[in-house]
Amino acid sequence: MRTRELLRLRNTGHPGINSLFAKAHSADWDFERDVDWRTPIAADDPLVAHGFAAYGRTPTFQALPERVKAHATRRAVGRLLNILQVGESVAQNVCARLVLELREEDYRNHAAAQAMDEARHHLAYRRFIDAMNEDVEDIDAGTEMMFDALLSTKDPLDLIASEQFFLESLAMSIFESLREEATHPLLRRIIELITRDESRHMGFGVLYVAEWMRQQPLDGRIAFARQWLPQILGSLLDRPGPILLGRVIRRLREAGLENADELRPQLLREQQAINAADLAAAASGEKVPHLLKSARRAGLLAPEILEALGIADQPLIRGALRGATEVEVAS
Ligand SMILES: [Fe+2]
Ligand SMILES: [Fe+2]
Repeated sequence: MRTRELLRLRNTGHPGINSLFAKAHSADWDFERDVDWRTPIAADDPLVAHGFAAYGRTPTFQALPERVKAHATRRAVGRLLNILQVGESVAQNVCARLVLELREEDYRNHAAAQAMDEARHHLAYRRFIDAMNEDVEDIDAGTEMMFDALLSTKDPLDLIASEQFFLESLAMSIFESLREEATHPLLRRIIELITRDESRHMGFGVLYVAEWMRQQPLDGRIAFARQWLPQILGSLLDRPGPILLGRVIRRLREAGLENADELRPQLLREQQAINAADLAAAASGEKVPHLLKSARRAGLLAPEILEALGIADQPLIRGALRGATEVEVAS
């Protein structure tokens, strides 16, 4: 980037994206002042309702001794917070890169404001993990590979589609359930503040992709949807299975439950029934996941695209179209 290019910075005039920058200031929060960090975290506090974690809603898990459940749930939350804290650092890098790569004034401004939000989120999660005062579980190899791929990406469309459009829509559903299920007031507070920022970030992803799609011929739109819809559907269909169960069993053993391994088949069976019910709720349109709402709002679920990809009858897609409310269509 040269000075001459900065002299020619163009504002796209997109009202939604321009207003995100103003909102980043008016909805600002102070990491020190708006969070009461003096709230203690007891060593045996599960931090969230047991139903939040994978397998936590199964009758078998619910019938376990409180001490065992508390350990397993807290370990699951610790691991998630560890993924989130490093995910925030990745998002900060993505935004820093976007500031350098984007040529549109309003898009750059959003990325700069988001970079500061992500720095604050990282600090909040880090500080909460420190207050938990334990070694949290490491992140998994799949997540690390995905973050590494993102860190080596340079193209703004790829960056925004991966981070703001895909990952932040995925994360929004996690934040919503975490906010509902958090039992510790400090955790609930930071999630509430962070979610406020994340909905702006996701909004940028949707508006950017929608704008890009609008300018593409049909072939380009189909190619983009062909790249992203399978990933979106894949991540929604990926429900708790044997890998997560392995972690749950390990945590139960750590808590001293000697017959933990014997519970495997029944935990898996009960969780599979829960998975099926969750997917049915998404397919009915009763609870449309943010990933599909974002896909719809960005134009990926247009009839001509679904027809070209041959997925118009996919149950989750049908649910997303059925669940479209007037408000969302208008926005
Ligand atoms: Fe964030
Ligand atoms: Fe974010």
